[in-house]
Amino acid sequence: MSEIIDGKAVAARIKETAKARAAEFERVAGRKVGLAVVRVGDDPASCIYVRNKVKACEQCGVASYTYLFDEKTTQSELIEFLGKLNADGKIDGILVQLPLPEHIDERACIAAISPQKDADGFNVVNAGKLFLGERDGTIACTPRGIIELIKATGVPIAGKHAVVIGRSNIVGKPIAALLLNNDATVTVCHSKTRDLRDYTLTADILVAAVGKKHFVTADMIKRGAVVIDVGMNRDETGLYGDVDYDNAKNVAGYITPVPGGVGPMTVAMLILNTVDGARNE
Ligand code: GUN
Repeated sequence: MSEIIDGKAVAARIKETAKARAAEFERVAGRKVGLAVVRVGDDPASCIYVRNKVKACEQCGVASYTYLFDEKTTQSELIEFLGKLNADGKIDGILVQLPLPEHIDERACIAAISPQKDADGFNVVNAGKLFLGERDGTIACTPRGIIELIKATGVPIAGKHAVVIGRSNIVGKPIAALLLNNDATVTVCHSKTRDLRDYTLTADILVAAVGKKHFVTADMIKRGAVVIDVGMNRDETGLYGDVDYDNAKNVAGYITPVPGGVGPMTVAMLILNTVDGARNE
C-alpha cells in the first residue's frame, strides 16, 4: 500500500506562508496585494477553477478583481484590457483562465501580460527563465506545486529517473524543466511515444499529465514510485485523474489522489506567485 500525498494539507501550509507575506506587504505598502482574474466565456470547468482561486485570495488576505468577458469578446478587446491591467497600480498579478474561446490566440494574450504581473508564469520571459535555470522568474503554478508535493514525500529528486507523460506548455514542458533543474534524469513521453510502458516502468517519479481518465494503469508503475496525477477529467459520474488510483495505490510508494492532490497546490502556488511578485516590484 502506498502513502497518500495530501495535497490539501501541503496547500494549506503554502497558503499560510502566502498569507503572512501578504500581511507584511500590506503593512509596508498600505494596500493589499491584488490579483486580476480574467475569464472569457462560460466554460464550466473554468468557472469552478476561477471560483476556487477567488476563494483562496480571500483566505490569504489578497484582493481579487474578477473580470468576466462574453464568449464573443474579440482578441484585440481582450489584449487592450490586459494592457490596462498591466498599468493598474493596485494589480500585482494577472491570470487569464485558459482555455480561451477558439477565435482568440492564447499565445498573443499571454504575451500581452507584463512578465512582472504574469502570476501563471506562462509568458515567454518566465518560461525562458525556467528553461535557463534562472531563479528570478515566475514558475507556472501546477509544476511548482508538483515539486512541493514530491518534496513533501521526503524522497530526494536528485539522481532519480523522472518520467513525465504529456508535453503541454502549462504542465508537461515546465515540470520537465523543473525536475531537470532539481537534478533528476528526465524523460518526456507523449502521444507519439512508442512502448510507453517501457519508460514508465523505469520511473522513480511518474508525472501523469495526459488528460485521459485512468490512462495510467497499475501495470505501468514501478513498485515504490512517487506517482503524481495531474489529471482533472470530468464526466457525468464525477472527477477522475489520469491514474487508475484504486489499483495504482497498491504498487506506488507515494501517490496523489484526485481530487485533493495537485489541484489545491495549483491554487496555493498562484497566490504565492502573486504575493511574491508584489513584494519584488
Ligand atoms: N487552465 C488549466 N490550468 C490552468 C492554469 O494553471 N492557469 C490558467 N490560467 N488556466 C489554466
